[in-house]
Amino acid sequence: MKPREIVPDVYYVGAPDFDRRLFDALIPLPDGTSYNSYLVRGRDKTALIESVEPEKINVLEGYLKDVPKVDYLISNHTEQDHSGGIPWVLGRYPGIELLSSEPAKPMLVDHLGLSAARIRTVADGERLDLGGKTLRFIYTPWVHWPETMSTYLEEDQILFSCDWFGAHIAQTGLFVDGADCILAEAKRYYAEIMMPFRKIVQKNLDKIKDLEIRLIAPSHGPIYRDPQSIIRAYRAWADDRPANSVVIPWVTMHGSTALMVERLAAALVERGVTVYPFNMATADIGQLAMALVDAATIVVAAPTVHVGPHPMAYNAVVLANALRPKVRFASIIGSYGWGGKMVDMVKAAMPNLKVELLPTVIAKGLPKTADFEALDALAGTIAAKHMELGLFSG
Ligand code: FEO
Repeated sequence: MKPREIVPDVYYVGAPDFDRRLFDALIPLPDGTSYNSYLVRGRDKTALIESVEPEKINVLEGYLKDVPKVDYLISNHTEQDHSGGIPWVLGRYPGIELLSSEPAKPMLVDHLGLSAARIRTVADGERLDLGGKTLRFIYTPWVHWPETMSTYLEEDQILFSCDWFGAHIAQTGLFVDGADCILAEAKRYYAEIMMPFRKIVQKNLDKIKDLEIRLIAPSHGPIYRDPQSIIRAYRAWADDRPANSVVIPWVTMHGSTALMVERLAAALVERGVTVYPFNMATADIGQLAMALVDAATIVVAAPTVHVGPHPMAYNAVVLANALRPKVRFASIIGSYGWGGKMVDMVKAAMPNLKVELLPTVIAKGLPKTADFEALDALAGTIAAKHMELGLFSG
């Protein structure tokens, strides 16, 4: 296939992956993904931005079949879904110069086995003149790794942002064609890999706030013709203020914990709090991550298995701890047969969550009247805490 023109002399040469269903052996991909690469032709020089996932190198090869010379390969991010095709590109164009941020250089050596001598680093703010097309490199760390940078094409006002602003979507069209759909997918992506670095995301957003951006061309998913839509969404997701919502990852073995979740959820809804329950036996963890982006409170609901929490509920705690959402309050509810350390183990698994721990409600066997009343009281406490934060004001 011929390179696909985005604007004059800027082309898409990436690969959709409709069949991939899991990323990092962890993240569900209900809509596949894409590995986007872009070709920028100046009067004098040509640059390729990113390679592709090695499994899709044949797609990049097809696009570049009739491109005899590329002068620069720009690696914005070292993770292999973008950098894995670099060795092939270096072989295809022996004279090509590989450019990366300074922190990326040793990472490219480590992850791809490249020779350090093959890599030229560019400084934050440095420009590269291709002849009528000027690339400016902007360090944007931690979206998604520490070495990440974005590349800005000044004349066309295109921000090549790599993972940042991306979404796991496979499609044949190049551009966003449904704002609601893309924002849901982009939120899922933000939740899964950007949320742990929320504060740095805020700084990166500040760093680009004065850039004139006409298009955002990420390395996953479609290109934004309305860049402010995704920038506004990122601002809201990364903002410190949570929403009036509670996330309840739960598991039940013989029904006791399910009854407790049902009661707590109803009591919260009666008090005007939005509830997102996730049965961890079947839940899409991407949706759990998305709900955690905004939630003010997490309530872990688990039965006790061999002294500790049910492993599937425990997994949810480990995941939430890794994702570092902006939650402000946490509680633990659940049940046990004869004893255990479920509560202590769940508490110990969430050191990254800067939360106020609210009372726990643990039932022995089937929940009794006193347990249900304690759940009602917990719902009241959560609603009051949300009220104190002003979360009922919309
Ligand atoms: Fe799409 Fe962090 O790689």
